[in-house]
Amino acid sequence: MKKILITGGAGFIGSHVVRRFVNKYPDYHVFNLDALTYAGNLENIKDIENKQNYTFIKGDIVNESFINNLFSIHHFDGVLHLAAESHVDRSIEDPLSFVKTNVIGTMNLLNAAKKQWEGNFENKRFYHISTDEVYGSLGTEGLFTETTPYNPNSPYSASKASSDHFVRAFGETYGLPYVLTNCSNNYGSYHFPEKLIPLFINNIINNKSLPVYGDGNYTRDWLFVEDHAIAIDLVFHTGKNHETYNIGGFNEWKNIDLVKLLCQIMDQKLGREDNTSEKLITFIKDRPGHDLRYAIDATKINKELGWKPSVTFEEGLEKTINWYLNNEEWLRNVTSGSYKDYYKKQYS
Ligand code: NAD
Ligand code: TYD
Repeated sequence: MKKILITGGAGFIGSHVVRRFVNKYPDYHVFNLDALTYAGNLENIKDIENKQNYTFIKGDIVNESFINNLFSIHHFDGVLHLAAESHVDRSIEDPLSFVKTNVIGTMNLLNAAKKQWEGNFENKRFYHISTDEVYGSLGTEGLFTETTPYNPNSPYSASKASSDHFVRAFGETYGLPYVLTNCSNNYGSYHFPEKLIPLFINNIINNKSLPVYGDGNYTRDWLFVEDHAIAIDLVFHTGKNHETYNIGGFNEWKNIDLVKLLCQIMDQKLGREDNTSEKLITFIKDRPGHDLRYAIDATKINKELGWKPSVTFEEGLEKTINWYLNNEEWLRNVTSGSYKDYYKKQYS
């Protein structure tokens, strides 16, 4: 039985990846390592918690001796590394915590994998899950390809860029077998309501204002999270060693257009009069260093590995909104307690 370590599996994307691997690969034992920060929630993976081929481990990737110990006990065959501090606004408030988790944490995992696998890298794989934000901002034209130079603008993207560089350096210097993907903005179920789509769905449900940064003319390329999990599965199993793949939704939206679409759909679903939710839109002070536009050229993963998104944006958004409307208890639970303090500080 192969032993697979997935980090950050109690978070948004990680929970979808853990679910997919546990259900699809009964011959793998999946170890989910997560520190359960504000973004990690065992409710996200409740449906698989009693599966025979699954173990949850609470722990911090920043703790070097803990990580070394874990590798020497379990002798993992593969690592899918998703644990991270992931929210740009939080990185502006507290950049050091991003360096600790995203850079030092990744370094601890790389060192432990190298130590464990050195001398026999065969059938081993370190998969680093990263973001398109490392490339910086596009103007109104063009797309990010795998050869676009790194040019991160936020403490979040700088910390992810740094971790990407270390992964590559371990490949070049020590021969560590790795694959790396840079993905665009995800949306879907179990998404913590600090990011645009779940935050605005939650605020529309609760008739709260919708805080759009600046003029709202910023563009993101949105991908349904389950399609990201499918791509991760494919890259882990069939991606070429020491290669990077960009993953994207072929789906660019200006924030303000996306927010208006969300308002329309939510008005229909909640039985509200047309334009009720649009009145909640409030333009607020812009995010410092706000990247204008992200858009991915996903030709390489499409041509080489045969991946493309399986759902349209309309289908994905419909599924996502339905999920939040059917899981209001989940929303209530994650927005109680410290979320209230975060929200006040960020938006007052
Ligand atoms: P998330 O914030 O929802 O989840 C992160 C998880 O990591 C949480 O469960 C948290 O408890 C855990 N974690 C944080 N610090 C930890 C530590 N020190 N030790 C152990 N666990 C820790 O993030 P997400 O949106 O699911 O993103 C997952 C990965 O995908 C990240 O590496 C992120 O950079 C990358 N990514 C995200 C997006 C996106 O749109 N969300 C897009 C591209 C890439
Ligand atoms: P976000 O979901 O934070 O993802 P990222 O910054 O990593 O792309 O934000 C998506 C876009 O939405 C981004 O342009 C910032 C904007 N935004 C708002 O206008 N208001 C908000 O309250 C948030 C959280 C984001």
